[in-house]
Amino acid sequence: MKAIVIRKHGGPGVLSYEDVPDPIPEKNHVLIKVNYCAVNHLDIWVRNGIVGKTVTFPHILGCDICGTLMEGFGKFKKGDKIVVYPAFESNVPRVSFGIIGGFGKYQGGYAEIIQVPKRNIIKKPAELSDKEAAAINISYLTAWNMLEKSRCKKGDIILIWGANSGVGSAAILLAKAKGLKVITIASDSDKVKFAKKLGADFVINRNTSDVTSEVLRITDNNGVDAVIDHVGAKTWPTSLEVLKVRGNMIACGTTTGSDATVNIRSFYSKEAQIIGGYLGTRAQLVSLHKFMKQKKIRPVIDSTYDLKDAKKAHQRMEDSSQTGKILLQVSS
Ligand SMILES: NC(=O)c1ccc[n+]([C@@H]2O[C@H](COP(=O)([O-])OP(=O)(O)OC[C@H]3O[C@@H](n4cnc5c(N)ncnc54)[C@H](OP(=O)(O)O)[C@@H]3O)[C@@H](O)[C@H]2O)c1
Repeated sequence: MKAIVIRKHGGPGVLSYEDVPDPIPEKNHVLIKVNYCAVNHLDIWVRNGIVGKTVTFPHILGCDICGTLMEGFGKFKKGDKIVVYPAFESNVPRVSFGIIGGFGKYQGGYAEIIQVPKRNIIKKPAELSDKEAAAINISYLTAWNMLEKSRCKKGDIILIWGANSGVGSAAILLAKAKGLKVITIASDSDKVKFAKKLGADFVINRNTSDVTSEVLRITDNNGVDAVIDHVGAKTWPTSLEVLKVRGNMIACGTTTGSDATVNIRSFYSKEAQIIGGYLGTRAQLVSLHKFMKQKKIRPVIDSTYDLKDAKKAHQRMEDSSQTGKILLQVSS
């Protein structure tokens, strides 16, 4: 089969389009013909490498998959369109789970065929195209989980960083559908326009305005009920600063680094909570599918590349040029 393989960590140049042997399924696993695989920031972390995390080379990236079953089992038939719930049991102490195609034992979906545990198979929602169904198993599920953890109710106000990102754009769409008021952050006029189109109530251009003063102005100095922070070190101080009394900050990412300096006194004196968000459960993915169907939400796709052009797709994400999800088409 054709696959994008990495044989060492590094920049987009380490992504190599090659012929590799088809996987042979282990017990309780099933083979899937991959139709689309979305690109996620995790793919860049794994490609670059993170100190203390390992993959076995050659490794195949890709965790966000819509495909076709190559054999039937249980209620599923050969040829059924499915999506893959991306998490598997972790053997790393104090880590909730591993992610398929990420760090850990599973090869990912930048390949024509992939094997995954049977219990990770979920029927593809009929109302979504294959491409759309591949776009939601990581960013949208994480955003959904974070919104649930925020405990925000209809009418509450939430700050969502990075409107153009996978997680940010998903969180805006889902938060609006839940009846929340959304303040979001963008870094240029096109991304501001994109955020408004998604339905955000207030969009702050972080390159022309001070985020803290703008959020406090919008909220009459009260702050926000919750913050969705996937950006990390550079945004944590602001996220905590703009939380209202007993507000919740939900953090899932470290795009700008994982060592933040925060004002502890300001944090405890408002009795804030910092909550970690890590993907979500299989049951949450099923409930997300239902919610998106009920609210007629379609994931926002930025662009689609052929599998062999994965380097270009990675470059687009690293340049932060995307508005929404970047997809790889593996087969039609
Ligand atoms: N814990 C989990 O389960 C989980 C799941 C999914 C993702 N994540 C993590 O969440 C993060 C986002 O993932 P993604 O796939 O959505 O990434 P992405 O699409 O590449 O988005 C990155 C975002 O970060 C923003 N950003 C970069 N530097 C910034 C700064 N200095 N200040 C404010 N915003 C900044 C960018 O905004 P501009 O373009 O405006 O610069 C862009 O919106 C990644 O770190 C990823 O690993 C974690």
